[in-house]
This record gives sequence, C-alpha cells and structure tokens, in this order.
Amino acid sequence: MAKPKVFVTRLIPEKGLDLIREACEADVWQAELPPTRAELLRHVHGVDGFLCLLTEQIDGEVMDEAGPQLKVISNHAVGFDNIDVGAATARKIPVGNTPEVLTDATADFAFALMMAVARRIPEAERYVHEGKWKTWGPLTLLGGELTGGTLGLIGFGRIGKAMARRALGFEMRVIYYDPGETQPSPELKANRVDFETLLAESDFISLHTPLTPDTRHMIDSEAFSKMKPNAVLVNTARGPVVDPQALYEALKEKRIFGAGLDVTEPEPLPLDSPLLGLDNLLITPHIASAGRATRAQMAWMAARNLIAGVMGERLPNCVNPQVYK
Ligand code: GLV
Repeated sequence: MAKPKVFVTRLIPEKGLDLIREACEADVWQAELPPTRAELLRHVHGVDGFLCLLTEQIDGEVMDEAGPQLKVISNHAVGFDNIDVGAATARKIPVGNTPEVLTDATADFAFALMMAVARRIPEAERYVHEGKWKTWGPLTLLGGELTGGTLGLIGFGRIGKAMARRALGFEMRVIYYDPGETQPSPELKANRVDFETLLAESDFISLHTPLTPDTRHMIDSEAFSKMKPNAVLVNTARGPVVDPQALYEALKEKRIFGAGLDVTEPEPLPLDSPLLGLDNLLITPHIASAGRATRAQMAWMAARNLIAGVMGERLPNCVNPQVYK
C-alpha cells in the first residue's frame, strides 16, 4: 500500500524525522529559512498531512491548496496562533501541538532572563570586554534581587505554574493573573490577583499567556505606567503580547528597570529596531524551548500527531477535538 504523503516545513530533530520517514513519503524542506508563501502552497499541494513550525502562517488558503484529502496539520510548537484553527475545524482537519514537553525548558529560560536582566549580566559582560573593569567597586553594576521579591505571572497554565515552583526555591512571593484559572494553588503558595494589582505589586512580571485578540498588546503604555520603577518584564510567550513602542518608551525613560524578551514583534527583530539600542533590554532569538532533549521530544510529539492524523487516528495532542464530534 502506498505510504501517505506529507510535507515537513524544516529539518527537525531525528527523533521525529525518523518516525515520519518510516511511516510516510516525506517531502522535507531542507533550507534554514522557511519556505516562502508560494513555496509553501506548492509543497502542500496534494499532501495527506503537513508538519509546520510557528514561522508558517497556515490559513484556509493553505488548507484548500493542499486539497480535500488533507487529514492533519501538526504544529511543532505548543503555541498555535500561526494557524487559523477555526478554518481547520470548519474543514474537519485536526490540528496538533506539543504541550508539556517544553514546560520546564521554557520556565528555566524565563528564570535565566529574569536573573540576567535583574543582575545586569549582559551589561557586565560588555563592561569586561570594553576594558571598564578597573577594580572591585561597592557601587559597580548594582541590580535587583530575586530573593524576597514578588513575581507576577500573567498566565497560570503549565508554564506559569512551573515558574511558581521555581520561585518557591528563590523565596519569592508569587501572584498571578489569569482570567481562565480559577483554582487556588495552595501547594504553590501563589495568590490570584487582578491585572492592576499584579502590575502595581510585582518586582518581576513574566508573561505566559497565549496570543489571542484579548492578549495582543495587553502590556501597553498604560500597563507600563502602573509598574514599579524597579520592575523587570520577561516575555517568553509571544512577541505581540507587548506593545513594542510602549516597551521602548518605558525602557528608554527608565520607567521600569529592564526587560528580557525571547519573543518580539516582529520576528526576527530587524537590526535597525530602536529596541536594539537599549542597555536595559536583553533579547534572545525565540529559543526558550531550545534544550536538546526538549526539542527532540517536541519533534517526536509533532511526528506522532502527524502520523496519527494521516492514518485516520485521533491525534495524541489535538487543539480542536471538536472535529471528532
Ligand atoms: C514556542 O514558542 C512554542 O510555542 O512551542
């Protein structure tokens, strides 16, 4: 029997690719950069399923171009704002994602950003390289401290809770804002507060919310005006949750202490972005889940979703289970 045809939009770790190649006739995009829109449309044509990354915008046009035989869209990410899930559901196409396996890697990275910004590690490194290190100074490169500080989590799902678990070890007070999370968390010692209270009381604010119409630019100039002057903002969620112009002004005018971003709007950030001229902003290229073991697990989960879909089985991780009703 002929193997199902699939398109994979990039080279992914072997743990996933090997499974796919065994079960399917796979067209794998080899280049470092994503396929252009035209290339994407050409390569999905006639496939039974495709595995994509968050760099690909998947809408109804892509699904229709693939054709009526399309049985699955598997995203190699936990977030799926790059996919028009409504359009997939309307066409009865299940969409898969990769939750849980990247929770710890992402929370570790958000903590690394928090610590690096608070203790000014990138600035201190530049200080050494620029020959400014002349002596030990009691006032040199002073920064904020995690211990005893208040961590405000926006979004209290899997990654938000993993942040709270880490914060316990740093003896931090944890508060969170999450309109969907109603359960108190006695074991995590985290208290639910409203958005204004979180902004006003947090020394560290870390974003762990999906990107939706409600969360787009939720951190805007009004939100920055309510934060403490020593606040550190960390974003490992999605770039557009923060208004980049408002962020620029808040950092430039030192209305908050600093920020650490693993995600930006747009991505990649152009080299002439004014954000890159700020000393109190640390930016990394969307790598919070880039642990070797984590990425292998993500590839494996995305492959399993893809293969289940093309075989007509239920996806192990499906974001639109309504398609099975
Ligand atoms: C990465 O950003 C993901 O959503 O997995």
